[in-house]
Amino acid sequence: MTFNWTIDHHACVESTQTLLKEKAKGGAQEGCVVSAEKQTAGRGRQGKVWIAPEGNLSMSFLLRPHCSPAQAGQYSFLVAVALSKTLDKYIEKGHVKHLKWPNDILIDGQKCAGILLESDLSDEGKIEALYIGVGVNILHAPPERCALQEVSSQEVSASLLLAKFLENIKKYINLYKENGFLSIREIWMEEAYKLKEEIKVRLPDKTLTGVFEGLDEDGALLLRLDNGVLERVSAGEVYF
Ligand code: BTN
Repeated sequence: MTFNWTIDHHACVESTQTLLKEKAKGGAQEGCVVSAEKQTAGRGRQGKVWIAPEGNLSMSFLLRPHCSPAQAGQYSFLVAVALSKTLDKYIEKGHVKHLKWPNDILIDGQKCAGILLESDLSDEGKIEALYIGVGVNILHAPPERCALQEVSSQEVSASLLLAKFLENIKKYINLYKENGFLSIREIWMEEAYKLKEEIKVRLPDKTLTGVFEGLDEDGALLLRLDNGVLERVSAGEVYF
């Protein structure tokens, strides 16, 4: 991985994700990062609003992996692992961090960070732009969510957290390139939320209940249904 990070920092934007897309259309290169003190129209997964006031981390970065869409999904696990390792140094003993499929970070069972993946395909069906947006609740969190500062005894600075996070993303991209997705999956599974427990997965047309058995080689969730069938879920919402 030979790109360098270039950081375009703003006081306030509608959405770092939207701005990054505009920059990519204008020819921005892999490694372009857009960050902001706050967002006025932050976007979450599945069309949800992401509240991003000042003091939280709001950032998006551009990769140009030229891979298949299935492989692109693996980057969300890679980024979750990189972010999780970044958060480790801030979290006081006694608090528990988990990774919730597909890419949330929970502390003490409450969401602290979310990852949004969007992409553009080339005419050949390859990912020519992968937009990865990351929000971390540092100083502020909506009700029943976790703010990192609440579980940390040190002052958490969004800019220092971002610098360490970018370093870790490169580290895990290198691991991914050298050893493949299985090495990322292994690290992700160490902190998987509700692994081997019963979960519910909400799909567009139905809700499935079963035991969370793990991830397949692309990162799809493997759910053992009551009738013994192993169901593979590649998109959905896990809830309890
Ligand atoms: C989720 O729903 O969990 C994903 C949340 C992603 C939020 C981040 S904040 C920075 C970037 N800009 C956005 O508008 N969204 C992402």
